[in-house]
Amino acid sequence: MSEVDDQVFMKRFGLVIVFLAVFAVIIIFVALAIHNTLDRPESQARDVARSERLAPVAGVFAGETGRAAAQAAREAAAADTAVAAAFDGSLDGQLIYDRACASCHEAGVAGAPLMEAGAWAGRLEKGEETLVANAISGIGAMPPRGGRRDLTDEQIEVSVAFMLDMLD
Ligand code: HEC
Repeated sequence: MSEVDDQVFMKRFGLVIVFLAVFAVIIIFVALAIHNTLDRPESQARDVARSERLAPVAGVFAGETGRAAAQAAREAAAADTAVAAAFDGSLDGQLIYDRACASCHEAGVAGAPLMEAGAWAGRLEKGEETLVANAISGIGAMPPRGGRRDLTDEQIEVSVAFMLDMLD
């Protein structure tokens, strides 16, 4: 091997190295371009973990603004648990009776007094107020508010009044 051969080799070898380096850079840019076009959803678990990590150790409500924030938080919590009044708050005794009470009181389910005077003889003596109170709190096999917790006291009142009217 002559010195000239070595020089030729080094030149070609250098060219190959340069070519490979340029090729590697091109591949990196192509890969980046493809990566950016991919629309990957954020991992929900990672999201949750991140917000837990960033959350303050404890919430402290202090001073004027703190009190307002605490109140707002309490009200939001209360609004969450408050159930909307049944039947859009209707005070139509018949409507409420038909939809919430008739299922038991028309068929005598679980010994529910049927809507005929005989079945109510002993009950009427308690007075309407007590009957309403019992319908609200539940009595015997009848669950509180006939199982409709979203009925207001007033709605129970009008439906009991409607029931008693039916007995006349
Ligand atoms: C799941 C069945 C059921 C539903 C629904 C139901 N009731 Fe009753 N109700 C009963 C039973 C059973 C009794 C008898 C309870 C007893 O005296 O042991 C009763 C009794 C009553 C009494 C008599 C209470 C007393 O003091 O003697 C009233 C008033 C009454 N229901 C009103 C209503 C009204 C108003 C509704 C609808 C909002 C309703 N009920 C829905 C089962 C039901």
